[in-house]
Amino acid sequence: MARLEIEGPCKLRGEVSIHGAKNSALPLLAACLLCNGECILHNCPGLSDVDICIRILEHLGCKVKRSGSDVAVDATALTHSDIPDYLMREMRSSIVFLGAILTRAGQARLSLPGGCELGPRPIDLHLAALRKLGVKIKESHGCMQCTTGSGLVGSDISLSFPSVGATENIMLTAVCAKGITVIHNAAREPEICDLAHFLNRCGAHITGAGEGTIIIDGVQSLHGCEHTVIADRIAAATFMAAAAVTGSHIALRNIIPRHLASVLPIFEEAGCSCYLNGNDLEIIGPERLRPMKLVRTMPYPGFPTDAQAPVMTMAALADGNSMFVETIFENRYKHVCELVRLGAKIKLEGRVAIIEGVPELYGTNVGAAELRGAAALVVAGLAANGKTCVYGLKYLDRGYEHIEESLSQLGAVIIRK
Ligand code: UD1
Repeated sequence: MARLEIEGPCKLRGEVSIHGAKNSALPLLAACLLCNGECILHNCPGLSDVDICIRILEHLGCKVKRSGSDVAVDATALTHSDIPDYLMREMRSSIVFLGAILTRAGQARLSLPGGCELGPRPIDLHLAALRKLGVKIKESHGCMQCTTGSGLVGSDISLSFPSVGATENIMLTAVCAKGITVIHNAAREPEICDLAHFLNRCGAHITGAGEGTIIIDGVQSLHGCEHTVIADRIAAATFMAAAAVTGSHIALRNIIPRHLASVLPIFEEAGCSCYLNGNDLEIIGPERLRPMKLVRTMPYPGFPTDAQAPVMTMAALADGNSMFVETIFENRYKHVCELVRLGAKIKLEGRVAIIEGVPELYGTNVGAAELRGAAALVVAGLAANGKTCVYGLKYLDRGYEHIEESLSQLGAVIIRK
């Protein structure tokens, strides 16, 4: 079975360029569906989730050309308005295509999405909001049949939770709806701003992205544009964690420092020295990490749930006890039992994890059950004594572009088998 073999402990040195953000690339690819004419996305990461989006676009009738990190999408001639079950099951985020397909085709047929197992992950907020915009939805046997009836109409929508995916779906549905849509308690993540920038460049009228209230003044149509995907703040946090646990000095290139504003203080609390210079960050891990008093995941601008697992590996090696509270997903501690196999001391009670730092971890076989948990195990393997084999690479490949190559270039002894 495919695995990464890591011979630890490793010392890292050098620089790594951070790839484009997975969580931006996916809604941006869905947004390309809305445009008359070609869209070109630069800095589009080479990830399996991006490949699935491209397969969805091709199924719908788009012409997609990929060249390195550039992806060109021409959605002029759509032929389908459904997403086959096998593609929906591959990735929960495929739900973000719903709004875009409805806007283009007036109808959509999707099965209920799959994806990482982080708890129930319902889509009730998406569906309630789309209904407010005039979408008729019939759900039966795990399938949704949606139509726009007499057309999409702008509306006032209040989200009970600032869901990232729901905010994106509303934007993609409202952008060409008749009249004005206001999203209250919208998600404020940088990926929402990236989507709004892209859509505005295509001719949309969206204001307030990045704040709690987004206003979308529907337009008749959108045209193509070129856009560069923002840097992946979670990949950045993962490489920072790798430097932190190995006491290494590395430089991260092409980051967006303000997107890491809630992450940097945690690394500094753990004893890392971080130096920002434009879009670069140098990080030096200490000889022994200090514990983190409290890491509480929150919607942006709070500490990201996606960085929780890699940062927990740091806590596992700290000189004292740390507490983590996961408030976003109810089942996001699947990496814990695998970290324990490597010698970590972690107790779980519901959404709280208490981590009693140990001086060393010891390599063994571990299996990932979701994307960021996989990253946490790779980070742990870099610090652990001896050989760590990380299985479950299909999860890792969803969000990290050739991570073993980047880590090898930094000096890690890591191979994919
Ligand atoms: C996105 C990110 C994911 C990140 C998450 C939170 C993408 C592709 N994925 O996921 O990496 O971890 O944001 O920052 O961008 N919820 C509902 N009903 C809904 C929608 C969500 O109850 O209709 C709940 C979810 O179960 C979860 C919480 O809200 O507990 C957050 O979900 P949401 O913000 O929607 O995350 P995603 O968009 O799925």
